[in-house]
Amino acid sequence: MMMRRHFIFNALVAAIGTFLKACAGLKASGIETGVMFKFSEYPDLLNVGGVASIRILDKDFIVTRTSAETLLAISKKCTHRGCTLNFFSFSGFECPCHGSGFDLQGNVVRGPALRPLEKLASRIDEVKNSFIIY
Ligand code: FES
Repeated sequence: MMMRRHFIFNALVAAIGTFLKACAGLKASGIETGVMFKFSEYPDLLNVGGVASIRILDKDFIVTRTSAETLLAISKKCTHRGCTLNFFSFSGFECPCHGSGFDLQGNVVRGPALRPLEKLASRIDEVKNSFIIY
């Protein structure tokens, strides 16, 4: 009985080791995790300066086309107490709850919020005519 338990334990350790190596291999092989969106669904983002409101994994983000090669995805959730930013202008974001202000990069320009807005990394895939938010 003891040998059986020992065998099961060793098999379990070997399986975990194999799993961890496989995970490391996925990362090393360049397989991405992220959410892909088609530009055809967000045509405003085809042009520099274009803006779209996108829901990503149950969170609302403002995505801005900042250059031919880059996008900026900024959370619409205020870092003060979590209200949804509902005002957007070319000078930045304002929170309707207590008046915090954020610039277009998500940095605080007026309190009471102290922390910048959450940002997600992104990448444009020209071949697939899409973009990926991480
Ligand atoms: S929740 Fe945005 S300023 Fe308070």
